Amino acid sequence: MALVTSTEMFKKAYEGGYAIGAFNVNNMEILQGITEAAKETKAPLILQVSAGARKYANHTYLIKLVEAAIIETGLPICLHLDHGDTFELCKSCIDGGFTSVMIDGSHHSFEDNIKLTKQVVEYAHDKGVVVEGELGRLAGIEDAVNVSEKDAAFTDPDQVVEFVERTGVDSLAIAIGTSHGAFKFKGEAKLRFDILEDIQKKLPGFPIVLHGASSVMPEYVEIINKFGGDMPGAKGVPEDMLRKAASMAVCKINIDSDLRLALTATIRKYFAENPSHFDPRQYLGPARQAIKDVVKHKIINVLGCNDKV
Ligand code: G3H
Ligand code: 13P
Ligand code: ZN
Repeated sequence: MALVTSTEMFKKAYEGGYAIGAFNVNNMEILQGITEAAKETKAPLILQVSAGARKYANHTYLIKLVEAAIIETGLPICLHLDHGDTFELCKSCIDGGFTSVMIDGSHHSFEDNIKLTKQVVEYAHDKGVVVEGELGRLAGIEDAVNVSEKDAAFTDPDQVVEFVERTGVDSLAIAIGTSHGAFKFKGEAKLRFDILEDIQKKLPGFPIVLHGASSVMPEYVEIINKFGGDMPGAKGVPEDMLRKAASMAVCKINIDSDLRLALTATIRKYFAENPSHFDPRQYLGPARQAIKDVVKHKIINVLGCNDKV
């Protein structure tokens, strides 16, 4: 098995009414937790790397870790650039072995977004790499993504056909109310399924991507708060909403914050209970197991992509 693009995964996911999990990778333990979960559940997998993760862990180390995961699991794995913001960054990942890139032109005007996305698509397709574009703007704060609530905007269904046709993108990330990070909803969680439905009608069979899709699992927030953290009001996307989106046109669901929370909660708890330990394997081992537990749960109970390999 080698690295694959997401084309085949998305086709089957669309037809089967499930979604592929796209999990963010920042280090070896995170990658091992994710890939062991996918192996045990026989799930196709997208591993995604942000610009920040690439800077932190180094392109070559990440590529080699993913190659090792393919050997160890025998799974089809797609290696994806998450939130590429320039042509140069996308080109560097395409040249360096990624099989999929996102060009996030959502901060630009409609015309500039099309221009930038088209430029990336032309370069990527020439090398057999697929491209995810974004239309609409999610709220939230991460390393490289920082959009205030007032600047967020739902995707306009009347723009999607023109965007897809003029850019040639292979999948489209849309904004229907999810947001990045651990504080997604102040009151009741609400997603605009009417917009998703409208987009699905306008682009039949076309794979849609949902960012900001962590559920901000309460069990891990509770552990963080119990052991010295302070995250009152942390709230994510309810899992039944994600399942509904997966049964519709959403073929890729992005999850990062839930992995961060599981890892951090486990390490906080470990040190609260074992304050004098200092062997990294003693706390990174359980943290890796927590990542694995979360990813298995997502694959089986949220995405529905188990037993699809
Ligand atoms: O959507 C962004 C991802 O969660 C990656 O976040 O830029 O902090 O690595 P990052
Ligand atoms: P979360 O912050 O909800 O995990 O979203 C991650 C994401 O969209 C990565 O692109
Ligand atoms: Zn995102």
